Amino acid sequence: MSSTSSSIRSQTAANPQHSFLRDVIAGLSESRKTLPSKYFYDQKGCQLFDQICQLPEYYPTRTELAIMDLHASEMAACLGENNALIEFGSGSSMKTQILLSELEGLLAYVPLDIAPSYLHESTQRLQQRNPQLKIIPVCADFTADWQLPDEVYEADHRTFYFPGSTIGNLKPPQAVRLLQHIRHAGHPSGGLLLGVDRKKSVDIIEAAYNDAAGVTAAFNLNLLSRINRQLDGNFALDQFVHHAFYDAERGRMEMHLVSQLAHEVQIAGQTFHFAKDESIRTELSHKYSLQDIQQMATAADMDVAQVWSDSQDWFSVFYMQF
Ligand code: AVJ
Repeated sequence: MSSTSSSIRSQTAANPQHSFLRDVIAGLSESRKTLPSKYFYDQKGCQLFDQICQLPEYYPTRTELAIMDLHASEMAACLGENNALIEFGSGSSMKTQILLSELEGLLAYVPLDIAPSYLHESTQRLQQRNPQLKIIPVCADFTADWQLPDEVYEADHRTFYFPGSTIGNLKPPQAVRLLQHIRHAGHPSGGLLLGVDRKKSVDIIEAAYNDAAGVTAAFNLNLLSRINRQLDGNFALDQFVHHAFYDAERGRMEMHLVSQLAHEVQIAGQTFHFAKDESIRTELSHKYSLQDIQQMATAADMDVAQVWSDSQDWFSVFYMQF
């Protein structure tokens, strides 16, 4: 079998280290410090995220997989034939295989992810299980510039698959902008299959980000180790504590790393001051009502055609027609 890694098309900056450093300095220079959550996903971060998906407290992955298992054939019927399938934040593509098994005559599958390690592994695995399928992996940041390969415009429809409630990492205006971009890229015909985490009891949501085994804390702290490794930083990991809570007013989880004492950190020769109890916000994870999703779809000129949920309405998969 030919190596797939060499065929990954890269749309990230010519020097990804450079944008990483620029974003880290910008985020830590704000009066309320932040770091972009997209930088969680280095190789170690991808491994930790896969571990999170197995945790008893982390219900979203399990719930969404069950929805896919039950309803993938109905979904496939919605999507129609002669499609190109484009997946955003494809990660380890576990849910995708369920969909692929139901889709007939798919012209191409385009997994798009920021993490080359995820793209390489999942492309290999999916290619082995689906030898006839044309897979065109694209390494890109879907919050920045991205373009679809020409091949997807040879299909009658472009179906976008955006699972995992990854859209929840974006603030609502950014999320709408991304949906508008997707709508535009799907022209003239297509649809979006979107997996979203629903609003529910605070205890259930908060437990999912505060697991007893401490994997989510390790995932959060790995962002600081990545800065140490790749940007010549000197974060002392034992001086920061994982803190995750639900903001009911904004309908979102927030993850933070809280400095345990007043101290200074150097990154690539620059100094950053931390007060005692000062935090870095590392992630937002929005939770949605049906109405929230309906509004976003309308703002992006899409029609909600179908919704599939688990029996407790903890998670939903929407099909939005362009
Ligand atoms: C993959 C971004 C959807 O927000 O729930 C898991 C990432 N962060 N635990 C989420 C995550 C902490 C996850 N997303």
